[in-house]
Amino acid sequence: MTIPLIAVAALADNHVIGNDNRLIWRLKTDLKRFRRLTMGRPLIMGRKTFQSIGKALPGRHTVVLTRDLHFGAEGVTVTHTLEAALAAGQDLAQRHGADAVVIGGGADLYDQTLPMCDRLHLTYVHAQPAGDALFPAFARGEWLETSREEHSRGPDDEHPFTFLDLKRRI
Ligand SMILES: NC(=O)c1ccc[n+]([C@@H]2O[C@H](COP(=O)([O-])OP(=O)(O)OC[C@H]3O[C@@H](n4cnc5c(N)ncnc54)[C@H](OP(=O)(O)O)[C@@H]3O)[C@@H](O)[C@H]2O)c1
Repeated sequence: MTIPLIAVAALADNHVIGNDNRLIWRLKTDLKRFRRLTMGRPLIMGRKTFQSIGKALPGRHTVVLTRDLHFGAEGVTVTHTLEAALAAGQDLAQRHGADAVVIGGGADLYDQTLPMCDRLHLTYVHAQPAGDALFPAFARGEWLETSREEHSRGPDDEHPFTFLDLKRRI
């Protein structure tokens, strides 16, 4: 049985997700959602995103994708092809009884895996920041909205935002 592949991403209304290998907003409510959606699930990410976080996140088996055969980091599984990363995610999920494998970015990883994802857990950040990393364009009609939650700006959240869950129609 194939375990569902899901992407979790926070994107601005203009699809910017980061700049200079960093996140560009402070949204505590979204960090909590990211934690909830990834906890206990294998988390696949590109080498740049991993280095921007700086360590393996506790409670999640992190799979890092890089073409650098010499790359190593403590507490993560390193893979060198997308196929190997997805297989490692499936294997970890099966061994640990996880119900999904998560794609955690960045732009390059979302771009390559979006066609394979079963669900998207998006946070639309209502801002138009400048940035060099973008979430890929996708055909909204191929996705069914399963949940939407609006949030206003607050003391720990720099912008208003919307949590949107989408499920692939076909
Ligand atoms: N807002 C959000 O939700 C969110 C989430 C995550 C990240 N981000 C942001 O996204 C930005 C980073 O994204 P990015 O696109 O620059 O980098 P990335 O996707 O994190 O990592 C790209 C790297 O992954 C490796 N890679 C990608 N595809 C591969 C493949 N098929 N086989 C082997 N290795 C592969 C390569 O590493 P090597 O160069 O080592 O070969 C490549 O340079 C940052 O600004 C970060 O803050 C935002």
